[in-house]
Amino acid sequence: MPKEKPELSDAMLKKMSGKRPEKNSIQGTRFTIAISSAKGGVGKSTFATNLALALKNIGCKVGLLDADIYGPSIPKMFNINEKPKSDGQKLEPIIKYEIQCMSIGFLTDQQTPMIWRGPMVTSAIKTFTQKVNWKNLDFIIVDMPPGTGDTQLTFSQEIKMDGAIIVSTPQEVALLDVKRGIKMFDKLGVKILGLIDNMSFFIGDDGKKYKIFGEGGVKKTAEEFNKVFLGEIPINPVIGETSDAGKPIVESQPDHEISEIYLNLAKKIKSAYF
Ligand SMILES: Nc1ncnc2c1ncn2[C@@H]1O[C@H](COP(=O)(O)OP(=O)(O)O)[C@@H](O)[C@H]1O
Ligand SMILES: [Mg+2]
Repeated sequence: MPKEKPELSDAMLKKMSGKRPEKNSIQGTRFTIAISSAKGGVGKSTFATNLALALKNIGCKVGLLDADIYGPSIPKMFNINEKPKSDGQKLEPIIKYEIQCMSIGFLTDQQTPMIWRGPMVTSAIKTFTQKVNWKNLDFIIVDMPPGTGDTQLTFSQEIKMDGAIIVSTPQEVALLDVKRGIKMFDKLGVKILGLIDNMSFFIGDDGKKYKIFGEGGVKKTAEEFNKVFLGEIPINPVIGETSDAGKPIVESQPDHEISEIYLNLAKKIKSAYF
């Protein structure tokens, strides 16, 4: 699988942050929120899908844009196998669990490895933000690819981004990259709503909390950079199982204690805007 390249250099960031022309919201959408992480595999897509569902459960109209062109997850996590309709001008989002969804995975054969060059990524992102018939959304949740590459660059240049949430796991190696992610959004002038500590701990059969990847790292990073620490989500196999089965936990087991965590996070995020 090709890596997203190139990393943003300091010089490039400086240039971009210097001039900021007025940017537009995604049509049909009030607030655009990016779910970001520096590394892959930290649970970004899992968080993005469950947050979208939790926001819906508290009465918001929600869209879910899978911006991970190299490794789309929404088709599997929402068990969507149909292709979006087009009227020749715009694509219709696919509605699942009352959420308007769009993913490159709806348009391409999922088994075929895709080789994307930077400009192709840019044009896919432009299509998703300008040529999709998003309707009456309070929030569009954008599931970003890992890192600080072409996708992040295109979004920040083209779209008014109303907030970013950074998901991390507590290991030191993950945190190093988180710091880079924070700096990127700061320089691009995108408000960081806060940091999430995912796979923070495990509760054993004995009822004890096990801090498998160390303790408090994400929270400390948040404090160090003067960002909000939004909270922690434990490791729990049911989170992965429900997503793999195409119906994330917030949708399949809304009363589960894990779903409550997502729900409370959704309330915090909603209250930042409404
Ligand atoms: N809190 C969690 N507990 C257990 N498994 C999790 C949790 N968060 C994510 N996972 C699992 O970790 C893997 C990577 O998650 P994913 O959301 O695809 O990460 P990313 O989008 O950052 O690459 C998936 O198999 C997912 O089910
Ligand atoms: Mg992902």
